[in-house]
Amino acid sequence: MFDKKVYTERRNKLKNRIDSGIILIPGNSEASFNYPANTYHFRQDSNFLYFFGLDHPDLAGVLDVDNDKDYIFGNDVDMDDIIWMGPQPLMKERAAGVGVENTKPFGTLVNFLNDAIKSGRKVHFLPPYRGEQLVQLKQLLGFLTARVNDYVSQELIMAVIELRSIKDKYEISEIEKAVDIAYDMHLTAMKMAMPGVIEREIAGTIEGISLAKGGPVSFPIILSINGQTLHNHYHGNTLVEGRMMVTDAGAETTMHYASDITRTVPVGGKFNQRQKEIYQVVLDANVKSIEAIRPGVTYKSIHLLAAKTVASGLKGLGLMKGDVDEAVSQGAHALFFPHGLGHMMGLDVHDIEGLGENNVGYDNEIKRSGQFGLAFLRLAKKLQPGFVLTVEPGIYFIPELIDQWKAKKKFEEFINYDKISDYMDIGGIRIEDDVLVTDSGYRVLGKPIPKTIEDIERVMQS
Ligand code: GLY
Ligand code: MN
Repeated sequence: MFDKKVYTERRNKLKNRIDSGIILIPGNSEASFNYPANTYHFRQDSNFLYFFGLDHPDLAGVLDVDNDKDYIFGNDVDMDDIIWMGPQPLMKERAAGVGVENTKPFGTLVNFLNDAIKSGRKVHFLPPYRGEQLVQLKQLLGFLTARVNDYVSQELIMAVIELRSIKDKYEISEIEKAVDIAYDMHLTAMKMAMPGVIEREIAGTIEGISLAKGGPVSFPIILSINGQTLHNHYHGNTLVEGRMMVTDAGAETTMHYASDITRTVPVGGKFNQRQKEIYQVVLDANVKSIEAIRPGVTYKSIHLLAAKTVASGLKGLGLMKGDVDEAVSQGAHALFFPHGLGHMMGLDVHDIEGLGENNVGYDNEIKRSGQFGLAFLRLAKKLQPGFVLTVEPGIYFIPELIDQWKAKKKFEEFINYDKISDYMDIGGIRIEDDVLVTDSGYRVLGKPIPKTIEDIERVMQS
């Protein structure tokens, strides 16, 4: 946990941004896996962690904006709990550790909220993302479950996004720890990527590194020689020479800050000529995009810079043709680069995304495009110092998409369909780093993870 002053200050800033009423931030409960008592590993709600810090199930935080009072609702453990879970601090002690003086039994929360509602006060809450939360909000506030989302507080959503988007030095140092764990995960994956190895042997090993050095992985590991499937969680293929292996994986620290790194390597440790050609285009897009990061620039413009770098690199190889700016403005490059350049990262790997992708990544100045490819950009708005984001361009050879576009003769003026067949065995290549927006530019977070062709070959052959 951070110092209690950090949490008190965050709660004060939040109360100052809300006009009036009560702010309700429930923590998570245990979630069952395959029968009630067998649960998933407990994961606290990130908003609860941010404002109330406590990493235990069955708590709720309440901020009374009008009377400037903070509460935690939760129960002290009884002897049965102690027998199964060991001794636990009292609620009073736990709450004091995060600067909250007022604690109440969990069962009194419903009356507390009902009294507030009866006296005409608004209860602000955030959108639920688990079924259990939906049911809990219905029980606490009396809405029909189908209507709960109609009563979510946009004022609270925007205030939380404003605060959580700007990372302080303590958070940045946690994220750097998470990237350093990812360093070990990715170096291990590179060294293991040899012919005859099964993907799951590598995925399991690097998940273990995350658990051993911090918390669980920050999202299910993507690791495959079929990197053309963007989120490939199937790990049953045996590695063969001539394929590239995409590893998109990150860790959570013990405080639940995330990393999200992608590296792509040639199975066996030596790039062939075609692999080198495509890899270098993706690397150029990654490096140029990172170098363009600074406050005041829109991330959409950096996404478009990455798209142009991809299109012009592919034109140099004969896979694309025609005017690069025109190809990108019409969206022809999205055949090869069909996703967004990146997203915010923090306590959630796609940070704060539960509060709405458009609320986090867009604003009044920049609206989401409907164009294929660009429509998937999660972060588009102007960058501010303190944002932490991912930069993750890629080039993919997706057979089904290529066949569909070719059959429709789509963008024939920009795409050399005949040339594509030479490159299909590459599958997909993505290179992703985690970057802080500083006052004057950018800083790539954590220990640098090899990404040039020479450095990757050196690591894999060592
Ligand atoms: N790391 C997976 C993603 O960003 O979607
Ligand atoms: Mn990512």
